[in-house]
Amino acid sequence: MIIAIDGPAASGKGTIARRLAAHYGLSHLDTGLLYRATARVLLDRGERLDDPDRAVAAARGLALTDFDEARLRGAEMGEAASVVGAIPDVRAALLAMQRNFAARPEGAVLDGRDIGTVICPAAEVKIFVTADPETRAQRRALELAKRGEKVDYASVLADIRKRDERDSARSSAPLVAAGDAVKLDTSALDIESAVRAAIEIVEKRAGS
Ligand code: CDP
Repeated sequence: MIIAIDGPAASGKGTIARRLAAHYGLSHLDTGLLYRATARVLLDRGERLDDPDRAVAAARGLALTDFDEARLRGAEMGEAASVVGAIPDVRAALLAMQRNFAARPEGAVLDGRDIGTVICPAAEVKIFVTADPETRAQRRALELAKRGEKVDYASVLADIRKRDERDSARSSAPLVAAGDAVKLDTSALDIESAVRAAIEIVEKRAGS
């Protein structure tokens, strides 16, 4: 069973994807890390994030050692990932790796922006996780503060709005719900309720 989880920043999609994977005994790929790692490599090399040739070379050359989550999870890297993610050839360079991951016999859970639309259009279950921007900003600010980053709510909210806009407006694989995705609004849900709701969606789909 392939479960595709998409949605905007800090909607809860990562937690839901991780918990679904544990619940069903499936592997999980957080595809945002691929874009974050690509951006990190460019910044480490002192290269521009919006240079398509350099960005494609960075994406193609990603190694396991580039996935140090402590260096990738910060706010700055979310923004940088969104810049490289808007380059169509970068998306193309990362496509096969994501599809290979999903092709394991038992299936997998992948989360990102274009899993249900581009990476795994035939996924058995597609969930589009949303929440209003203010709630997402609160969650992200808390998360970043826990990482020890100095954050203020207003700039986190501004960053989220800017990224929503860039991710939705780009021509290649924009952030949009697949036609056959089930929408899950987590604005009023805590983690446990959101995970329960996601499991119900999977059970309904799997049963039909
Ligand atoms: O947790 P959050 O949504 O903030 O970050 P993420 O999922 O790691 O994604 C960071 C950025 O990478 C997003 O704003 C997207 O621009 C880009 N991304 C993408 O384009 N496609 C994906 N499948 C995953 C992430």
